[in-house]
Amino acid sequence: MPIRVSSLLEFSRTRPFTIEAVNLAKTARAVMPLVENEAKINGVGIAVTIEEQTPPVRASAFELQQIFINLIVNAIQAMPSGGTITISVEPAGQDNVAVIIKDTGQGIEPAISEKVFEPFFTTKPPGKGTGLGLAICRRIAGQFGGSLSLASPGKGQGTTAVLTLIKAG
Ligand SMILES: Nc1ncnc2c1ncn2[C@@H]1O[C@H](COP(=O)(O)OP(=O)(O)OP(=O)(O)O)[C@@H](O)[C@H]1O
Ligand SMILES: [Mg+2]
Repeated sequence: MPIRVSSLLEFSRTRPFTIEAVNLAKTARAVMPLVENEAKINGVGIAVTIEEQTPPVRASAFELQQIFINLIVNAIQAMPSGGTITISVEPAGQDNVAVIIKDTGQGIEPAISEKVFEPFFTTKPPGKGTGLGLAICRRIAGQFGGSLSLASPGKGQGTTAVLTLIKAG
């Protein structure tokens, strides 16, 4: 999967970035062509319900796209026999919004729900995953002033990634 590998390598190369006001609907539109093919091959449908008027968030456009890509690719890979990803935005208090990326995949056992954020932690076969994706995504979300967590009711019951970001302006 060349897209995943090159974007992760690009992503892990820490580059300085500036915080700007980023439109979430536009971010989702920009990443869709990059994940579409892998979704299709795996029988995964992606439904995005982010309204154009959703308040912009404090982020760097490129890094935010990389976070979306990593979370979506993780979701696709958690659904080897197909499923659905829904991407939406919800208000989170007065100053924040939450981007919710929900899948219907293999889920995460409670015992490893925090471990997945450790650098190099992967459940993928050797050569398939670096285990860096979520560690980098969480670090960058923190640099935006936000946070990233994953929740799953348990094995086989899907996973929800919650990316909280600060409203711009
Ligand atoms: N949506 C998800 N559903 C189920 N498990 C997940 C999901 N996202 C992440 N995980 C688990 O967390 C682990 C770590 O994810 P992370 O993105 O950090 O690395 P990776 O996907 O294994 O490797 P890479 O990101 O380099 O391809 C995964 O190996 C998987 O076990
Ligand atoms: Mg990953």
